[in-house]
Amino acid sequence: MKYLIEGGNRLSGSIPVSGSKNAVLPILAATIITGKKTILHNCPDISDVRCTIDILRHLGYGVERQNDTLIVDSTCEGTPQVPPELMRKLRSSIIFLGAFINRFGSAKISYPGGCELGKRPIDIHLAVLSEMGVQIQEDAQHILCDAPRLKGGEYRLSFPSVGATENVMIASLIADCPVTVKNPAKEPEIVELQNFLNAAGANILGAGTDTIQIIPQKTFHDCEYTVCSDRIEAATYMFSAAATGSVLTLTNAPLRDLNRITATLEEMGVYIITKRPDTLTVIPPKRLKPLNLIATMPHPGFPTDAQAILMASLLKADGTSMIVENIFENRYNHVSEFLKMGAEISVSGNTATIRGVNHLQGTTVYAKDLRAGAALVIAALSARGTTVIHDVHHISRGYENMIGKLQAVGAKARIVSDTEPNTMEFRQILPNETTFHSLTQ
Ligand code: UD1
Repeated sequence: MKYLIEGGNRLSGSIPVSGSKNAVLPILAATIITGKKTILHNCPDISDVRCTIDILRHLGYGVERQNDTLIVDSTCEGTPQVPPELMRKLRSSIIFLGAFINRFGSAKISYPGGCELGKRPIDIHLAVLSEMGVQIQEDAQHILCDAPRLKGGEYRLSFPSVGATENVMIASLIADCPVTVKNPAKEPEIVELQNFLNAAGANILGAGTDTIQIIPQKTFHDCEYTVCSDRIEAATYMFSAAATGSVLTLTNAPLRDLNRITATLEEMGVYIITKRPDTLTVIPPKRLKPLNLIATMPHPGFPTDAQAILMASLLKADGTSMIVENIFENRYNHVSEFLKMGAEISVSGNTATIRGVNHLQGTTVYAKDLRAGAALVIAALSARGTTVIHDVHHISRGYENMIGKLQAVGAKARIVSDTEPNTMEFRQILPNETTFHSLTQ
């Protein structure tokens, strides 16, 4: 699959934000500890969710989709093993580790996959679980865990890792006394996991702060939960509006989780009008102001997941901006592709300097990871001529119907198969048509 995008025209109208990828993935893994039925609303139809459903079904659990609702039935026993080919499909498969320890007292998994953003080790996950009493054996392919008993008490993460915090929260529910987690991740997705687990019968406090307390809980009940909207998807369309000089409204937007994005856009001269509870309108200036220095940091700092899409909107800003990437060591995959489009960027270590240019030119580029791909879409929308974006399967991991949503606000964009010619013969994507295959079958 590839995307063809003809840039240069203004977008206008309204885009609905889908459910949060990074919230729903750990919640889906956590459903297995309940041994009950879970109804989850606002679940995006993206390939990472489809892979997680494949894992749940492989484990023996029932999963049904009805529009944006997923019904997970984990009443049967299941099995604590995920085959390597499923594990490798996404990074968040690692959250099944905590879920298996909770449900089975043991786990056998291989190393997770996900975007190539550097080393992405799991040492912090394993260090805390090991301190809690989990016996861990690792070889080149597998991690074997045995947890006859989990010791409660106070544990400190050496870095506020999102995944490690989620694993520890889920595993800790079977500890022999309350668990206190110090220096946890404070991302909104951590709060979502707490709220979901509490809705199913757990008693967890403090998610979103510097200390999380987990009261052990072994029995749960059926539950119904609505997943929050995706703050990074919302940010992507906010930066798209800024980069193309377009007035765009977002509905179903997670306003509370967008403060850092909104503040950054305001610094760039963009007006954001919010209408509670979940609607905002982005009104950009004629030309965006550059940012002196912006650094990615754990929440509530500027999110690393929005670094590439921010950079895409700074490519034509009125001056020079500097970005420092502090979370992942290999997260400038988009830079080489922006350069092909005429951007002026230099990277030294983890610092990127972006000199705003007057024009970007459409050309052939490659999506090398999820957010790098989304950033290329933004650059393409603001470029002259047609951009061909290859390897868009990375984008489908985290964006529901991105091309359809952009078409609905006037973007000239198409999804075509790799073998089709790069012509912009325009055709509206119908709702729920996310891939070329689904268009043709
Ligand atoms: C999650 C998000 C991802 C986001 C990231 C940071 C999901 C599915 N993914 O990823 O989109 O970019 O948070 O906000 O929710 N680290 C270690 N050892 C560990 C764990 C992490 O060194 O055991 C390092 C990582 O290599 C990385 C940094 O810590 O450099 C942050 O990783 P972490 O917060 O764990 O991110 P993920 O949970 O993988």
